[in-house]
Amino acid sequence: AAMHDDTSAEVTAARGSGTTSTTRVTDLVADPDRPVDVRLELVARAERITPDGGEPFDGFTLNGQSPGPVIRARQGELVEVVLRNDDVADGVTLHWHGVDVPAAMDGVAGVTQDAVRPGESFTYRFVAEQAGTFWYHSHQASHPQVVGGLFGALVLEPAEQTTDAAADALAAIHTYPGGQRTINGAVGDAHRDAAPGETVRVRLINTDSTPTSAWVTGSVFRVLAVDGKDLHGPGEVDGQAIELTAGARADLEVRVPAHGAVRVQVPGASLVVGPDGAGADTSSAPRASVDLLTYGEPADPGVDPADADRTFAYDIGRWPGFLDGRPGYWWTINGGILPAVPMYMVDEGDIVVMRIANNSGEVHPMHLHGHHLLVLSRDGQPSSGSPWWVDSLDVEHGESYEVAFVADNPGIWMDHCHNLPHASEGLMTHLAYS
Ligand code: C2O
Ligand code: CU
Repeated sequence: AAMHDDTSAEVTAARGSGTTSTTRVTDLVADPDRPVDVRLELVARAERITPDGGEPFDGFTLNGQSPGPVIRARQGELVEVVLRNDDVADGVTLHWHGVDVPAAMDGVAGVTQDAVRPGESFTYRFVAEQAGTFWYHSHQASHPQVVGGLFGALVLEPAEQTTDAAADALAAIHTYPGGQRTINGAVGDAHRDAAPGETVRVRLINTDSTPTSAWVTGSVFRVLAVDGKDLHGPGEVDGQAIELTAGARADLEVRVPAHGAVRVQVPGASLVVGPDGAGADTSSAPRASVDLLTYGEPADPGVDPADADRTFAYDIGRWPGFLDGRPGYWWTINGGILPAVPMYMVDEGDIVVMRIANNSGEVHPMHLHGHHLLVLSRDGQPSSGSPWWVDSLDVEHGESYEVAFVADNPGIWMDHCHNLPHASEGLMTHLAYS
């Protein structure tokens, strides 16, 4: 908050003249002369897809595949993605879920850009400031398009890669129309080659609208990171599951045994990590799950909620009324049905505390764009493990969370439920900077 005046002056200068004495990420993005480090073109198409080992359905592809190509970049690199829409009738966009990009690059149709119509294109440019596991997906007609295949994994590697860094394996969990559960586009078992004794970082991504458990047989594991943020002092987990809310990621470290393989399971699909042909046991979901509120070791999160400049309530309920003139039983925020919901206004530099409470009868995976939230407490119990940062947070019926974030990314940002049908039924609002 102390930085407030300096930073807003910087922003004014950047907007007013196009140049500043200080280099900010937004300047780097705007600089047309900066060479691009990672560039790719993604072509969106409506077409019939047959997942590996599954049944055909009418869905959407990027460059002829679903999931779309894995995008990998290193921290500090400039990423440029040209999205072309071939024939997706409703139009498409790309949102970089969990990446705190400049607002103009956030890919929200109707807020930060118009949807890209058939025959049109849009160029996204951002500097990868974070390192971690992310994903991208369309943010236009999000529910049908994401379920139908318009998404992919985005891996941002640390600026300095140590030579002993674990190999990594992606596990993008997705349920296609008709209930086909897949990992990396394959129904049933996906496979990742790894040698006996090798340590592997498994990057789990939940691209579904509902939460999922994941668990491991053949190895103990550690939860290295959640939502693209490393956890501090993650301990060994044996015989427990990890819960991934809709949109969330978890990086698990596993070790391939001397004989056989590791199986990372979710209900209905799994990723087998080990030598080709090596078997891995299956098991049913363990009863207990890792509680991230108490997991890992405490460390200074760098944000002090006692310094909060603003405190907001985000109370989720459900009430009969009208949404866009349609009668129904709609989600409410602080008692109002969209558009009668709060718009959360902040100043750049603010430390913001938000109290999210849910008394709506269903679980909601809450997702704030452009920022990461530090979980302070759940139902009044303070976080006692590693600082736990999220961009997607499951709030069960009857639960309440207190979270904090730093308003350090000016723009207009969606704050919505990532159960995508719920978002279209009104569980969404915006955070804006004054
Ligand atoms: Cu991953 Cu607004 O969404
Ligand atoms: Cu919801």
